[in-house]
Amino acid sequence: NNNDFVKIVEVGPRDGLQNEKAIVPLQTKIKLIERLSTTGLRVIEAGSFVAPKWVPQMADSTSILAHLLRNPPPAPQPVTYPFLVPNLKGLESALPHNSNSGAAVAEEAEVKGVESKGASEISIFASASEGFSLKNLNCSIATSFDRFAPVVAKALQNGIKVRGYVSMVISCPYSGDTPPEKVVEVTKRLLDMGCYEVSLGDTTGVGNPYTVDVLMKALIEAGVPVEKLACHFHDTYGQAIVNCMVGLANGVRVFDSSVAGLGGCPYAKGATGNVATEDLVYFLHSVGMKTGVDLEKVSEVGAWISDAIGRKNNSKVGPALLAR
Ligand code: HMG
Ligand code: MG
Repeated sequence: NNNDFVKIVEVGPRDGLQNEKAIVPLQTKIKLIERLSTTGLRVIEAGSFVAPKWVPQMADSTSILAHLLRNPPPAPQPVTYPFLVPNLKGLESALPHNSNSGAAVAEEAEVKGVESKGASEISIFASASEGFSLKNLNCSIATSFDRFAPVVAKALQNGIKVRGYVSMVISCPYSGDTPPEKVVEVTKRLLDMGCYEVSLGDTTGVGNPYTVDVLMKALIEAGVPVEKLACHFHDTYGQAIVNCMVGLANGVRVFDSSVAGLGGCPYAKGATGNVATEDLVYFLHSVGMKTGVDLEKVSEVGAWISDAIGRKNNSKVGPALLAR
């Protein structure tokens, strides 16, 4: 893959904030998404329609979607705002809000005339390990696919694009090392179901250049088109950038990251944030790739959100660049 453009999927507002203990105010989340949309990012994951008793931090995602539909953030380029969806109930929240949606959203929609619009993209999330599937989705991998099938079918019928995630692609704290063949199997199932892209999650950041390379080669040799793959690396052990390099060398041109390295997964013990968007952009530009992202602007957003939620900025590049 000689293409020198890399698409960055900013997951800070979702993967980043879902793990914050104190509830982040809705206005802060909206401001984060709006500020990110001015940086040149083309995809900003904006929330998740999951059970609020499982992930309380994401409970206001319907308000975020309604806000984005009513007031599309000013952006220099078209931006997609995907939402995570685990089941049909979650999909209802992503669909155009007419009769069967939450009262607040319906009311807002009526007033502002956005009733015919919904999310343009959702993500379903599977696991390559049984242990994490049970923790994260409260069901086996097999059952999760039974639940995803009607979600994907209905989303596609409604013109909503579907992205797939696979978690624990390297190793799992509950089930041990993940055989690459299992990742291949789950990835192929997601693609066959209708996902346009599958993001490979090293949920706990335990991958290294060797294990990531073995995985990438297993996927490619099994016939998975590399253009349909994305890398989603958490930086728990500081290996995310070097692992992104291995993904890049294998032809991957889509990477997930979170501004200021926000995040972690509530159901993956020890998991910390994603690779920081600032660090990823700096790395990609330094090796001659194009992202369309303004590094200085995204660094400013990283500094602002870290301060706003009282958290250490986990990017190396952002603070260094702003100190110059
Ligand atoms: P369950 O408890 O088995 O579900 O959870 P249930 O169907 O029995 O429902 C239980 C309650 O939740 C009911 O409410 C439902 O209405 C409600 P009650 O009657 O008790 O009041 N409910 C919902 N509410 C709103 N939206 C929904 C929804 N579904 C049910 N969509 C379930 C199963 C899948 C719902 C639950 O396990 C869940 O929500 N899991 C999501 C966990 C999550 O969000 N994890 C983080 C995202 S994944 C991630 O971070 C990894 C990733 O970054 C990649 C990587 O790094 O590897 C993507
Ligand atoms: Mg993640």
